Amino acid sequence: TAEQLQERFDALIAADQRIEPTDWMPEDYRRTLVRQMSQHAHSEIIGMQPEGNWITRAPSLKRKAILMAKVQDEAGHGLYLYSAAETLGTPRDEMFEQLMSGRAKYSSIFNYPARSWADMGAIGWLVDGAAICNQVPLCRASYGPYGRSMVRICKEESFHQRQGWEILYTLSHGTPKQKQMAQDAVNRFYGPALQMFGPPDDQSPNSQQSMDWKIKRFSNDELRQRFVDMIVPQAEALGLTLPDPDLAWNEERGHYDYGELDWDEFFGVIKGHGPCNQQRLQHRIDAHENGEWVREAAAEYARKMQERAAR
Ligand code: 3HC
Repeated sequence: TAEQLQERFDALIAADQRIEPTDWMPEDYRRTLVRQMSQHAHSEIIGMQPEGNWITRAPSLKRKAILMAKVQDEAGHGLYLYSAAETLGTPRDEMFEQLMSGRAKYSSIFNYPARSWADMGAIGWLVDGAAICNQVPLCRASYGPYGRSMVRICKEESFHQRQGWEILYTLSHGTPKQKQMAQDAVNRFYGPALQMFGPPDDQSPNSQQSMDWKIKRFSNDELRQRFVDMIVPQAEALGLTLPDPDLAWNEERGHYDYGELDWDEFFGVIKGHGPCNQQRLQHRIDAHENGEWVREAAAEYARKMQERAAR
């Protein structure tokens, strides 16, 4: 009966077991997962743009090769996540449609421009760093395919973070102009990177339920705090300053205090009013349309192969 199914689901969650695609699950749980996982996939795909923009202008062949590999990894992450989300019964075309029509969100961070080479460093260190903080706990998400896809993604993200760190370290130990470039990039990406964790807990409508279902393991503010605590000593090691005059060690809490973020800006960006929202979405739509012939050819090839196998 429906009651027994719900009981079995609740028991699996309580025992920290995984829910698999063929298991019964409440419709709201399924919807929440499709929402979060598809938005996560969209973020990976849209996230290729700010860095893709710098591939042709990387300062050396080695840096170009590294950046290209990184951007390609993001494409891979998007594909694992779309596949994982499809196990919940929503076809990929439908998820694309939601992105391209502006109904599905993607991470606010990718609506900011990448203005200089140093931004590749700041994105790697701060944006991928924030992504790791947010995603390591997702490796234990109660939905099996999501948790499992996160394991590999997190491993790759740690390479990304280190390459960003290394770009910033090199610049910060270069000429005064190069150091200034690195500092400027950190100044611009610090606030938006902290906002990647989502709105403050008292303005996060989904957190409590997602934590009860063990999709999320920590609240937005808890993870943001963890990230701040992690990057303060890293910034010192880089010789760069974090642009927040309120940053201070709080002995009593055992954490760094940090200043209020610009939440009006954040809500504006997720409503579509960030500096690059239109450009990012249009680029994705154009890429999708230009790729029509590839999808057609792939489908035709698959059909032929099937026909041949059936003979
Ligand atoms: N950007 C855009 N939208 C955001 C957001 C952000 N930084 N933070 C929150 N939101 C949206 C939520 O999606 C939600 O909108 P919706 O109901 O229409 O979906 C609304 O704001 C309220 O936020 P909640 O805190 O209630 O939402 P969640 O419980 O879903 O928490 C989240 C938000 C922490 C982002 C969570 O969904 C999550 O952990 N997602 C998985 C991680 C992810 O998506 N990461 C993308 C970052 S970048 C990346 O991975 C690429 C890397 O390679 C650089």
